[in-house]
Amino acid sequence: MKSVVGLLVALAVSLSVSLPVAGDPCAAIAGKSFVLAPDALACLKSFPFNETLRQNVLTHNIARVFDFFTFEDYYLRSPVPFQESTSNIRAELARINTTTYATDYDFNWDLYTTITQLNDGHTRWFPDCYTSYQSLAPAPIVSLEINGVQGVYIIPDLVDFINSLGANYTNLITIDWQRLAGAKVVSIQGQDPYEYVDFVAKTVSGNYLDHGVRVNSVFSSYRLVGATYSQRFGDLAGPTGVAHSSINMQVIVNGSTKAEAITLPYIANFAGAAFTNRESFWANNCVANDETNGVDFKNPSIVPSPMRRRREPIASIVDKSVSSAFGLPPQFQPTLPVQGDNQGIMKAYVLPGNRTGVLFVGSFGGNFSTFQTDVVAAFKIFKASGVTQLMIDLTNNGGGFVCLGQFLHSYLAGTIIGYPGFQSTNRANPLARKIVASDIKLGLTDQLSFYTADNWAFLNGTQMPANYNYMDPDVPLVVNGKNDVTSQRFHDTCELSFDVPMPKTPPIDLRNIAIVSNGNCASTCAMFSTLMFEKHQTKIAVFGGKPNEDVQFKGMAGNQVLEWIDIDSEIKTANLKDDPLAPADLLVSGNFRHNWRAAWSFVDERLPIAYVSELPKFRFAYTSETYNNPQNLWLFSEKTLFGK
Ligand SMILES: *[C@@H]1O[C@H](CO)[C@@H](O)[C@H](O)[C@H]1NC(C)=O
Ligand SMILES: *[C@@H]1O[C@H](CO)[C@@H](O)[C@H](O)[C@H]1NC(C)=O
Ligand SMILES: *[C@@H]1O[C@H](CO)[C@@H](O)[C@H](O)[C@H]1NC(C)=O
Ligand SMILES: *[C@@H]1O[C@H](CO)[C@@H](O)[C@H](O)[C@H]1NC(C)=O
Ligand SMILES: *[C@@H]1O[C@H](CO)[C@@H](O)[C@H](O)[C@H]1NC(C)=O
Ligand SMILES: *[C@@H]1O[C@H](CO)[C@@H](O)[C@H](O)[C@H]1NC(C)=O
Ligand SMILES: *[C@@H]1O[C@H](CO)[C@@H](O)[C@H](O)[C@H]1NC(C)=O
Repeated sequence: MKSVVGLLVALAVSLSVSLPVAGDPCAAIAGKSFVLAPDALACLKSFPFNETLRQNVLTHNIARVFDFFTFEDYYLRSPVPFQESTSNIRAELARINTTTYATDYDFNWDLYTTITQLNDGHTRWFPDCYTSYQSLAPAPIVSLEINGVQGVYIIPDLVDFINSLGANYTNLITIDWQRLAGAKVVSIQGQDPYEYVDFVAKTVSGNYLDHGVRVNSVFSSYRLVGATYSQRFGDLAGPTGVAHSSINMQVIVNGSTKAEAITLPYIANFAGAAFTNRESFWANNCVANDETNGVDFKNPSIVPSPMRRRREPIASIVDKSVSSAFGLPPQFQPTLPVQGDNQGIMKAYVLPGNRTGVLFVGSFGGNFSTFQTDVVAAFKIFKASGVTQLMIDLTNNGGGFVCLGQFLHSYLAGTIIGYPGFQSTNRANPLARKIVASDIKLGLTDQLSFYTADNWAFLNGTQMPANYNYMDPDVPLVVNGKNDVTSQRFHDTCELSFDVPMPKTPPIDLRNIAIVSNGNCASTCAMFSTLMFEKHQTKIAVFGGKPNEDVQFKGMAGNQVLEWIDIDSEIKTANLKDDPLAPADLLVSGNFRHNWRAAWSFVDERLPIAYVSELPKFRFAYTSETYNNPQNLWLFSEKTLFGK
């Protein structure tokens, strides 16, 4: 009784000094990098549903941007084995348009989830307000083969990894979590763990058309973030947003034989803009800002003439877990010395014995020219060491510059192969056709636009003149019974941007090149590995996945992606913002990105490579030795793929 009275007094005192805090769920979490997920959710749900904002986002922006999405009609019936990624996009938009939502969060989260489940990392809705938190449970999982049997385990390096998040994270965990390191997972939410992993792959992961690739994204794994070794929580333990407060598991801790039930809290990590209360959370994270919408690049105050130059097309996914990345515990990082300059996004190693060079290509992004000079430097070292075999690790490579994928392919295969990329098209919808025609009338070039023809080459390799209209005539295409006209087919013009001397012939026998990854190889990475496989039959090995379930070696093989700001700038630069088909400026801070170009397969030129099923010839489970340990994985692969 006494304590209750004391509490009431304390509450009254705190109410009298800071009344807004008690009624303001955002003030309660302000300034904290880690908070319990339900506390963050209370803040996110404190903004009422607003019909004006729904119509702005859904009807006037997203529905119109979808007109440019190359794969819209493929979604009506995604071919086997990608059938899980089937959706009637327009029907989904209509459903969201008529659903009653209590809060702005509920509307946006439904839209976020619906578009995420297209499983196309190039086509995502990111409402900044509601993707600013990532939930982290202190129990990332992995599939390991132990004594010949595969099972789901809590990561063996749990203690080192979780402690690296700091006391502000661990202080919020109210269970004895350290003893869970390496625990065998018996069930998750009452289900068989692999079945639950399938469920997360289907409902949370997104980004990759292939289900098996998404399964690997549910597990924890190593990666490079910039030039730094990092460990991904995985989509079970580290989903974007704050939709869930906890997760239940039955586990057998290492050394025991008895299963026990545990409940793991989700702790939310904030990666948005600082705020102090509900009003400033909205103002700083939710309202459109200078970088939300596009601009007219013709305006000399926006792009002065000396700065007008061709931009490099990008094909990458957005992994929100990168914005708050945590390090791979040091004992798992390679002990072999990094060869050459390790400032870039790629690390080169020579394995003991000097037979095998390793390139860990963590991304095709970063600095466009540093990537190229890093490759040259690596091959100089490989040559000096007498290396005759090359292993390329593409684990968790989310893509980057389209032309760096073609660059690496061209460097490995030699320029004798000719054009190093795919045939490509974009959609010839009525607004796209108006943009191309208007760009021509305005005399625009690749310095200001991705739509002008000088970005591309004819299929004979000649660069198109800027005033060539490659959508007139358009090319008929029927997809799932729908007429879906495209532009004429064209090539990329990447060789115009290669700025190092290119070898004429392969610097290493192409038969002695192998690729290893966890299948989470997206966008430019997917295009690069597909090129290597379709043109040179490169050996590809995928690690992990669910036993007896396929994993493709590539995840998201779209082609060039345009962010909302990019397509909006194309429209504004073409003087077409007033066209009734043009999407409206967003009133909220967010990004609806879309896959703007398709890449067509060599093996079947009627199919986008995204829809060509290509399984790796080699599949391995992770073991206690290779899990999370890139160097051990390379040594294992050297033996298995090259016979040493
Ligand atoms: C932990 O949180 C406190 C209070 O919010 C903050 O002052 C401190 O900088 C945080 N520590 C770290 C390592 O982030
Ligand atoms: C809904 O949002 C619009 C645009 O931000 C704003 O002008 C309007 O006041 C909001 N409506 C309500 C009821 O808050
Ligand atoms: C949503 O409903 C409004 C009002 O009925 C309508 O004007 C709009 O076209 C609809 N948008 C979509 C995407 O269905
Ligand atoms: C369990 O503990 C033993 C002894 O410390 C260790 O060798 C083994 O790797 C652990 N298993 C897992 C899955 O972490
Ligand atoms: C890339 O790196 C080069 C060499 O360090 C530098 O000159 C250039 O400015 C960088 N480019 C960008 C876009 O940062
Ligand atoms: C490997 O190559 C390096 C030079 O890069 C050389 O110093 C070393 O002796 C070589 N080792 C073997 C085993 O050939
Ligand atoms: C390539 O094709 C284009 C369009 O058909 C043509 O104008 C051009 O002359 C051709 N170039 C060569 C080198 O044949």
